[in-house]
Amino acid sequence: MILTDEEKRMLEGEFGEPVQKAMEMLVAIGDIYGAERMIPVKSAHIAGLSLKTHGTAGMEWAEEMARNGAKVKVPTTLNVIGLDRSRDLGLPVDWCANQLRIERAYECMGCYGTSSCVPYYSGFIPRLGEHISWAESSAVVFTNSVLGARDNREGGPSAWASALTGRTPCYGLHLDENRKGDLLFKIEVDLRDIADYGALGSYVGRIVGTKIPVFEGIVNPSLEELVYLGAALASSGAVAMFHVAGVTPEAQSVSDAFGGRPYDTVVITAKEIEEGKEKLTSARERKVDYVAIGCPHCSIGQIREVAELIAGKKVNENVTLWVHTSAAIKGLAGQLGYIRIIEEAGGVVTQDLCTVLGNPEALGVKTLATNSAKMAFYAPGSNGLGVWYGSVRQCIEAAINGYWGPTV
Ligand code: F3S
Repeated sequence: MILTDEEKRMLEGEFGEPVQKAMEMLVAIGDIYGAERMIPVKSAHIAGLSLKTHGTAGMEWAEEMARNGAKVKVPTTLNVIGLDRSRDLGLPVDWCANQLRIERAYECMGCYGTSSCVPYYSGFIPRLGEHISWAESSAVVFTNSVLGARDNREGGPSAWASALTGRTPCYGLHLDENRKGDLLFKIEVDLRDIADYGALGSYVGRIVGTKIPVFEGIVNPSLEELVYLGAALASSGAVAMFHVAGVTPEAQSVSDAFGGRPYDTVVITAKEIEEGKEKLTSARERKVDYVAIGCPHCSIGQIREVAELIAGKKVNENVTLWVHTSAAIKGLAGQLGYIRIIEEAGGVVTQDLCTVLGNPEALGVKTLATNSAKMAFYAPGSNGLGVWYGSVRQCIEAAINGYWGPTV
């Protein structure tokens, strides 16, 4: 790779060992992907911070980097951890202690301890065309597709390396020619809610893998629907970008999205949406003992929806209801009275953590109901849970009744 003088000095260790290690990592990645040079990034988002993924070895490495003077060079946010720092949820004490050590190490490096996969809900919003180095697949696909920022599907280590150097190798989705669509999906069904968008993403993700899908026929989606569509695409496939014709910034039209290239078309009807939902359902019995909403973390609107659905009702005594969000959104939800409504009903609004990266299985729960396609995809393997997948209304009904589906 061709490096600037400053980048060469980073590589030679002039700015300390952490920066040297970070630049070595970026050069190695750039060599693998054939990047010719580095480009400056405006921000970074570091993921993989849950104890489940970081491990105690990673924790000790992060502490050593912090002790050796590692400091971020660009605004850097942190992803979800496996602990709610505002309360005791009954998770194992040593798990919580180690998890806190990870978060503190990164905060010592100058990162914002946002502990959320939706930093864009609390003011960290990359602009159109801006190069960034964000990890967390749901955030990557959102920033590329909906905001038009430029980001590869970074892992935690490469996002950390970019945070310390302010650089990333220039390849993949940083380049115009790699941001065009590959396959058209014509939507011939009314998408009614987030669960429909998640089912669509899950179905399409399995078809396209790492390619870029283009959607035609999605009319006036909400921000949250686009967030959940992207998260589903990124989990069932490895999608890092999608276009919605007439909606997302790099697709004013279908032909715009494909940049004049030829394409094949797949038609999506109610049948494919149902198939997507069936694939996300793995529970064997109707009894539900755990309901989780908020993967990606809830917006203020999603928390309000839960509060409205549960107001004046009671969560079944055999069910744990968790609503995941960030500390920032939780603060607003508290001021607006939504937290009180949900907690009076027996639910808990968590901050910082989530089901997949946390450890709810330590509470002994077995069967989850969720409206998140990403959570439904990962929870069987990551948490050992059977899953019911459906609308937020169906999930809240399951939390109240203790079972999925109509009253028996
Ligand atoms: Fe966010 Fe955790 Fe889901 S990081 S996207 S809530 S798996």
